[in-house]
Formats: sequence, structure tokens, C-alpha cells
Amino acid sequence: MLSTRFTLHSLVTEAHKTIQGYLPNNGISIDATMGNGHDTLFLARHSAKVYAFDIQAVALTNTRQRLQKNGFNFNPQTHPEIHLIHKGHEHMAHAIPGNEKIDAIMFNLGYLPHGENPIITQKHSTLTALKQSLQLLNRQGVLSILAYPGHAGGKAELDAIINWSQQLDDAAYAITLIHSIKETTESPRLFIISPIN
Ligand SMILES: C[S@@+](CC[C@H](N)C(=O)[O-])C[C@H]1O[C@@H](n2cnc3c(N)ncnc32)[C@H](O)[C@@H]1O
Repeated sequence: MLSTRFTLHSLVTEAHKTIQGYLPNNGISIDATMGNGHDTLFLARHSAKVYAFDIQAVALTNTRQRLQKNGFNFNPQTHPEIHLIHKGHEHMAHAIPGNEKIDAIMFNLGYLPHGENPIITQKHSTLTALKQSLQLLNRQGVLSILAYPGHAGGKAELDAIINWSQQLDDAAYAITLIHSIKETTESPRLFIISPIN
């Protein structure tokens, strides 16, 4: 089932609003692209357990600082349980305990804002991680993907995601593609994917 809609909000706000509706009190979430930690902080506020991935050490440093500034102390005795993982999201299936099902998985693709080096997400590892995400996702869960065609490599990554999403069983997944009302060819696109029960 594929649908499209337009929004006046930022697509990050749309992703957060949508995900919040899917997270139960004891929810488990994954931030597949930690970056500066804005999404990890959002997930920490609404989950009992968060796994966050990034390949850049600076992303883990920035995210840890953002969480600590906002009162998250990484004490294993207190909730939420937060795991900052210095690995690519294409390794998430190995990094998450085998019996855990995930309620919300977020991808915010592209490059680290204000980062010094242009490390971007790559379509092959992104697709590997997206396939693993669907295996890890709870039947009542949600996957969000924010893709940016405006930077070098971003259009190829967006096209690969569109192609992958079109091959999903449309009786098994509800897919919504959300556009900004002020969209240009370079504007980000948000995919929301959830299993149909
Ligand atoms: C747009 S930023 C993420 C923004 C972040 N979610 C936030 O709230 O600040 C994209 C991030 O993806 C990371 N990245 C690139 N390739 C990756 C991979 N294979 N696995 C995990 N993260 C990756 C980059 O290092 C960068 O920090």
C-alpha cells in the first residue's frame, strides 16, 4: 500500500511526530544515523531502550554530550537504557540481541551537519541496513527514512531507496512518501514504512 502526502512542517518534525505515535511506554528504538544526537535525544525521551549507530567517533562524542546536557546519565540502573554504538548501521542485525524486536527505527541520511569531513551515507550500506531493519521491526513498529537528494551521492541514494521500497510486498507494508509543500528537486523526502497486520 503506497500513499503520498505533503506537509508544511519540517520533515524531521514529521518523522518525530509519526514515530511518537508508534512508541509504547516500554518501547525499543534505533537511531541508525546518530550524527549530532538530535534524533537520539528524541528517541531517548520516548523509549525505554535506544540503540544508536554511527561510523564517526565525533558523532558519539556529540551525542553523548547532548544527552548528558539534557539529563540522561547513562546509568545502567535507570531508564532509558542507551547504547551508543561506533559501527555502521549495516551491522545492526549483529549488534542487537537476537530476541529483541524494535518499535521504531530512524534513518536521517546524508552527512554530519557542521562536520569537518564529508562522510556521507552510501546507498549500498543504507540498503543493507534497511533490509535488516524490516527483519528487526516489531509487527506494530515503524521505520522512517529521511533522504537528501541535494548533495553529491544523495540523489543516487534516494533513487535506490525508491526502487527498494517499490519492490516491497505492498500487501505486507504501508509505505507513505512525505514531501514538503515547498519541495524542489533538491528537497529531502521522508519515507514512513510500517507492517500491515
Ligand atoms: C544527517 S547525519 C544524522 C543526523 C542525526 N540523526 C542528528 O539528529 O543529528 C548522518 C550521519 O550518518 C552517519 N553515517 C554515515 N554512514 C553511516 C553508516 N554506514 N552507519 C551509521 N551512520 C552512518 C554520518 O557519519 C552522519 O553522522
